[in-house]
Amino acid sequence: MKIFKTLMITAVGMLLSTSCNASSDNKTANDAASEPAKESTVSAKEGKALIIYFSHAGENYAVGNIEVGNTKIIADYIKEYTGADQFEVVAEKSYDMSYNELIKVAQEEQRKGEKPAFKGSVNNMDDYDTVFIGTPIWWGTFPQVMFTFFDKYDLNGKTIIPFTTHEGSGLGSVVNDLKKLYPNASFEKALATKGTEARTGKDRVIKWLTELGF
Ligand SMILES: Cc1cc2nc3c(=O)[nH]c(=O)nc-3n(C[C@H](O)[C@H](O)[C@H](O)COP(=O)(O)O)c2cc1C
Repeated sequence: MKIFKTLMITAVGMLLSTSCNASSDNKTANDAASEPAKESTVSAKEGKALIIYFSHAGENYAVGNIEVGNTKIIADYIKEYTGADQFEVVAEKSYDMSYNELIKVAQEEQRKGEKPAFKGSVNNMDDYDTVFIGTPIWWGTFPQVMFTFFDKYDLNGKTIIPFTTHEGSGLGSVVNDLKKLYPNASFEKALATKGTEARTGKDRVIKWLTELGF
């Protein structure tokens, strides 16, 4: 987190007086961090899998102006390898702005606990036993719109497999946040990928999926 914070401060001088509220026990960058699974049940063989993710194209940290977001790249590798369905969480409001503006907007959303609306819905959530949940780390955790999604869908009873892209925070507090939201879900090993390494990270994603039993 400290590395990221330093970089952010370098990139955006006005962040000097702010503090990032990610948990201090974040996994190190690019670690495929391991969370103890409640049960060793996986996966596609036993039921349908869904990939739920948020990703922001446009100007982003360390990768410039990208047409496909870093997290979407990982979500697409997972889809390609597992055949899982995908649902992209797209906010109704626009995040089409410069990176420097976006970090301010996102921080303010988080500070106020806003729950921005999202487009579309998953009509057949009951069909899915396994749910991949993918996100960029925004200020240590999910973008607020993902919490809007979690308010709407009860994922208790499912197997949840989190994945993140980030620039230093690893998984941030994503896994802990999900465990609080869904205490009766089972959790499998999560994967954190540096955003700058998403485009070259396919083999690493496949290795992780293979270890999970896909
Ligand atoms: C608003 C905002 C906040 C961010 N906060 C963090 C952070 O707290 N920790 C971190 O490691 N990276 C942070 N990042 C970097 C992103 O997590 C990283 O670039 C990610 O790969 C973006 O994924 P995407 O292209 O799918 O949106 C932030 C980026 C943005 C735009």
